[in-house]
Amino acid sequence: MIVEKKKVYIETYGCQMNFSDSEIVGAILQEHDYEPTIDMKAADLILMNTCSIRDNAEQRVRKRLNELHSLKRKNNSLKIGLLGCMAERLKEKLLEEEKHIDLIVGPDGYRSLPQLLEQVDSGQKAINTLLSVDETYADINPVRLGSNGVNAFISIMRGCENYCAYCVVPYTRGKERSRNPNSIVREASSLYEQGFREMTLLGQNVNSYRWEENGLPLEFPGLLEEVARVNPLLRVRFATSHPKDLSDDLLVVMATYPNICKSIHLPVQSGSSRVLKLMHRNYSREWYMERVEAIRRYMPGCTITTDIIAGFCGETEGDHQETLSLMRWAAFDYAYMFKYSERPNTLAAKKYSDDVAEEVKSRRLEEIIALQQDLSLSGNRKDIGKDFEVLTEGFSRRSMDDLYGRTSQNKVVVFAKGSHKPGDYVKIRINGCSGATLKGICL
Ligand code: 5AD
Ligand code: SF4
Repeated sequence: MIVEKKKVYIETYGCQMNFSDSEIVGAILQEHDYEPTIDMKAADLILMNTCSIRDNAEQRVRKRLNELHSLKRKNNSLKIGLLGCMAERLKEKLLEEEKHIDLIVGPDGYRSLPQLLEQVDSGQKAINTLLSVDETYADINPVRLGSNGVNAFISIMRGCENYCAYCVVPYTRGKERSRNPNSIVREASSLYEQGFREMTLLGQNVNSYRWEENGLPLEFPGLLEEVARVNPLLRVRFATSHPKDLSDDLLVVMATYPNICKSIHLPVQSGSSRVLKLMHRNYSREWYMERVEAIRRYMPGCTITTDIIAGFCGETEGDHQETLSLMRWAAFDYAYMFKYSERPNTLAAKKYSDDVAEEVKSRRLEEIIALQQDLSLSGNRKDIGKDFEVLTEGFSRRSMDDLYGRTSQNKVVVFAKGSHKPGDYVKIRINGCSGATLKGICL
């Protein structure tokens, strides 16, 4: 007798790491009684993989929970679970505050999901928010949820021990640990064989990847090299790099392999050394500038993207101007820009006062965003007339006659489809742009 599997709908919030975790969760459940669905209304179980990085990320989940509550009233066999950082941060408190949640599981507890779901099926609430020192889910072969068949994420390490003063991640994702490199290379090879052509190696701070076997250490540059050698047609990216750990060894490996993408995400957070010190970032403005110069020395044309926080505790107008001047100097290609949001129990919440007025934070953020728009546009204009190899990812949202793909520098390019299809490498000459995309023609 064929027993029909129950359906699980997984909704993901937050970072790429969370998207990768949802694929691990999908795989664990698929081994048991569930299969992933993209139709929320057909689901027997809805899981929300949540983020705690800023208060508004949590508010978004709370709103969504209210909507799900009404769905549950219509279908009382529907179960709802909360995973990820918010589950870890709030633990049992969430069960008290959100009565219709059945299940709470933190980032290191996903293997226990099948047992916890049995408990839920027997009418109880279930919770596991234990953090682990060694869980990496190395042996689990993620299901590729919502995949375009070209790009995939590979998680190479978990946790974070940098304790930046503003950040909740060390508390929600626990101790730093690296995944066995053999399982990483195996996953990359298998993805390549399935037709995937671009892999992003993920970790909170990939530069502190470290594995030791028989007394032989393997660090991130060595791992990156091993993944790059899987196949020259496999593009490799990685995120995220902490500026304090960005080594010349890594830049040499990047420069050596044409299939390692020429793009680095290097979150600066602030352009003021004084603020960086308050943030516990362990580098200064000058150090950051020297690292940018090193990137440009080894790889002219490598794009650099960043993260910026506006209005951190004690940030003066002068500090803010230093952020703007650093942005101009570095000419970032893209930036993720945020207003500082105090997170409970972080160093900043305990030691500093969140003293930049809301309207000042907003104004500074607007200035940062406006400047970045100018920088992104002039960066894209410089590409006009140049030729790039573009990895095609899919059809343009605007027209089925156009495809879009990415350059090694991680810029999106739209071009007329011709006879090409997703997964193809296409040589493109850039002939136009906006701040967000390049336009080009096939050569
Ligand atoms: N408030 C605002 N932004 C934050 N980030 C991390 N914590 C906070 C916070 N409390 C930003 C940082 C980080 C990115 C993932 O989110 O810029 O690099
Ligand atoms: Fe959000 Fe950070 Fe957790 Fe990712 S690791 S989900 S960004 S809090």
